[in-house]
Amino acid sequence: MKLVGCLPSLIAVLITTVCANTEKAIFLGPAASSFKDSLPRLDHLKFQELSPTTSSLTKSLPAAFPTDQQPYGLETWYLLRDLKAGQRYEVRICWAAIQPTTFCLDTFDIVEVASHPARYQSVGEDSGAQREKATELSETSQESALLLRVRAAADFFTTNQTLMQHPPNVDVDIILDPFVANIFPASLVWTAAYITILAVGSWYISGFIWSRLNPPTGDTPKAHVD
Ligand SMILES: *[C@@H]1O[C@H](CO)[C@@H](O)[C@H](O)[C@H]1NC(C)=O
Repeated sequence: MKLVGCLPSLIAVLITTVCANTEKAIFLGPAASSFKDSLPRLDHLKFQELSPTTSSLTKSLPAAFPTDQQPYGLETWYLLRDLKAGQRYEVRICWAAIQPTTFCLDTFDIVEVASHPARYQSVGEDSGAQREKATELSETSQESALLLRVRAAADFFTTNQTLMQHPPNVDVDIILDPFVANIFPASLVWTAAYITILAVGSWYISGFIWSRLNPPTGDTPKAHVD
């Protein structure tokens, strides 16, 4: 019975092991704005996009060891589009534990970044990876959108000087996930349902097995009579 009862926790341990490392940022969809007026000022950059329809990107991101100029490593920027104003979202980055890296995720208002380019210098540093798919600026006027900054700092030590000077790219998945009813990430609903069903199911199954192992004998303890 103990084993059956333990299963949910065992499974939970396995799930976290499989996911390896995850970093995330939670934010609200901003009010729709005509950010496209601002984007031309960042036009030297072609952002890759994440949206509810393209909710996952698999990338190989450059990383660097922290320096005084780049205390959080190398930056890559993405455009989060087609958001719903007031809706809660989570953006996650997952990477394998065999590539030790510290990631920082931040979201920024596009107009803010465009009007203070000096504060966000690295927006101008095109890493090349971002040119693969250019953002198409359609003429539709207002949209809820944000800029996502991903910072990747290598976080390992090796005696191999080549690796210490040129940390290899890190393979990551970047996932945009709306919250259901602003409470729970949509993509985790099935995992949660699975764990809940398993936990509740094992509770009843263990009770059933326990009752089979200890069949009621019929001679219930009698009231004590003097
Ligand atoms: C250092 O790492 C690089 C890249 O993985 C590899 O090609 C090279 O053989 C390594 N050098 C030593 C001395 O192990």
